[in-house]
Amino acid sequence: MDYKWEKGVTKRRNKVFAAAVFFIIIVASVIFYRENRQEWMRYQRSYNEKLASKLNDPTYLKNPIKIEQTWLPQLNTTDRCMTCHSGVSNPLFVTEPQPFTTHPGDFLKTHPVEKFGCTVCHQGDGQVVVVEATHGAVHHLNRQLLTKEFAQASCAKCHMDIHDRSVTADIFPDAATFFKGRDLTYQYGCRGCHVINGEGGTIGPELTGLGSKTELAFFLIHDFQHVEGPHTMAQWIYEHFLNPQKVVPGNPELKFAATIMPNFGFTDEQAKALTIYVLGLRNPKVDNIPYDYIAVKKLAQTSPGRSSSMQ
Ligand code: HEC
Ligand code: HEC
Ligand code: HEC
Ligand code: HEC
Repeated sequence: MDYKWEKGVTKRRNKVFAAAVFFIIIVASVIFYRENRQEWMRYQRSYNEKLASKLNDPTYLKNPIKIEQTWLPQLNTTDRCMTCHSGVSNPLFVTEPQPFTTHPGDFLKTHPVEKFGCTVCHQGDGQVVVVEATHGAVHHLNRQLLTKEFAQASCAKCHMDIHDRSVTADIFPDAATFFKGRDLTYQYGCRGCHVINGEGGTIGPELTGLGSKTELAFFLIHDFQHVEGPHTMAQWIYEHFLNPQKVVPGNPELKFAATIMPNFGFTDEQAKALTIYVLGLRNPKVDNIPYDYIAVKKLAQTSPGRSSSMQ
C-alpha cells in the first residue's frame, strides 16, 4: 500500500518538474531571442555586411557584435552612439543612409572621438542604444538630441569667443546659423528687454544660460499647451519666436495678460537661427567643461583672411 502511494506522489512530482523545466526553457529562449535581435545588433550586422561587400572581404562578416562606447569621466559622459553610427569615421560610407553615414565636415578630425565623444556637441542620452529613446522627443531626457545646425548651440561651450561680434561666419563657417541668430538679436533690439551675457534690460527674463537648462527644468516653468510640435524646449522657443502671443496667450480668468514680447513676424528660417542662438547662450557652471577642453586658439586669430586685414 505504502509503496503504491509513494509511486503516485513521485509521478506527480515528475510532472511538475517537467513542466517547470519546460517553462524555464521557453522563458530562456524568449530572452535569448529578444536579446539577440536588438535594434543596434541589426545595424551592426548590416554595417559589417556593407563593409564586407565594399572591401570585398568576407572576414568582416565575422566582426564581433558588441556595444561600442567612449567613457569620458572628464566630461561625465559615456557615449554609445557609435554602436549604431558605425561609419562616422569611415569615408567609404558617405553615400550610405543613417545610421551608417560618414560624419559631415571635419568635426571628428578637429574633435577626435576618443577625446570628445558625441554628446558634448549633440547632447541626447549617450548611454541608451534604442533609436526612439535617443532621438525621439523624450520628456525625462536631461538634454534633447541636437541635430543638424542645432548642434551649433554647443560650440559656445568651448569656443567662448563665438560671442565676440568680430567673429563672423567667414572666420567660423561651421557656426553660420548661430551667427545669423546672434546678428538678428542686435538688429531687433532684444537687449531692450532681455539680459544677454551681461548686457540688456530686465523687462523679459534673462536669456544667458538658457541653453544649459535641462528639459525638465524648462518644462516645469513653461506652459506647453499651445505648442503644436513635439514638447521640447527647442520647439517651445521656436514656436514662441514665430508667434509669442500664440504660445503665451495669457489667461483672462486668472487675470494673466498675454506676453508683451512683440511678434516680429520672423520667417521659419529666422526663428530657427534665433532658437539655435539662444540655445547657445550657455552657463559655464552647468556645462562644467574642464579647462583642457576649452578651445585656446582665438577664432579671430585662426582665420587666414583676418590677419591681412588687421593693418
Ligand atoms: C540604436 C541605434 C542608434 C543609436 C544608439 C544612436 N543612433 Fe543616431 N540614428 C540612428 C538611426 C537609425 C538614425 C536614422 C533614423 C532617424 O533619423 O531616426 C539616426 C539618426 C541620427 C541623426 C540624424 C537625425 C536627423 O534628424 O537627421 C543624428 C544627429 C544622430 N542619429 C546622432 C546620434 C547621437 C549623438 C547618438 C548618441 C547619443 C546616437 N545617434 C545614437 C540609430 C542610432
Ligand atoms: C564638435 C562637435 C561634434 C561632435 C564631437 C560630433 N558631432 Fe555630429 N555633427 C556636428 C554638427 C555641427 C553637425 C551638423 C553638420 C551640418 O550641418 O552639416 C553634425 C552632424 C551629424 C550627423 C548627421 C545628421 C545631422 O544631424 O546633420 C550625425 C549622424 C552625427 N553628427 C553623429 C555624430 C556622432 C555619432 C558623433 C560621435 C561619434 C558625433 N556626431 C560627434 C557636430 C559634432
Ligand atoms: C568640448 C569642447 C568643444 C566643443 C563643444 C566644440 N569644440 Fe571645436 N575645438 C575644441 C578644441 C579644444 C579645439 C582644438 C583647438 C583649440 O584648442 O583651440 C577645437 C577646434 C576646432 C576647430 C579647428 C580650429 C583650428 O584652427 O584648429 C574648429 C573649426 C572647431 N573646433 C569648430 C567647432 C564647432 C563648429 C563646434 C560646434 C558644432 C565645436 N567646435 C564644438 C573644443 C570644442
Ligand atoms: C518688449 C520686450 C521684449 C522684447 C523686445 C523681446 N522680448 Fe523676449 N520676452 C519678453 C517677455 C516679457 C518674455 C516672458 C514672457 C514670454 O515667455 O513670452 C519673453 C520671453 C522670451 C524668451 C523665453 C525665455 C524663457 O526663459 O522663458 C525668449 C527665448 C525670448 N524672449 C527671446 C527674445 C529675443 C531673441 C528677442 C529679440 C528678437 C526678444 N525676446 C525680444 C519681452 C521681450
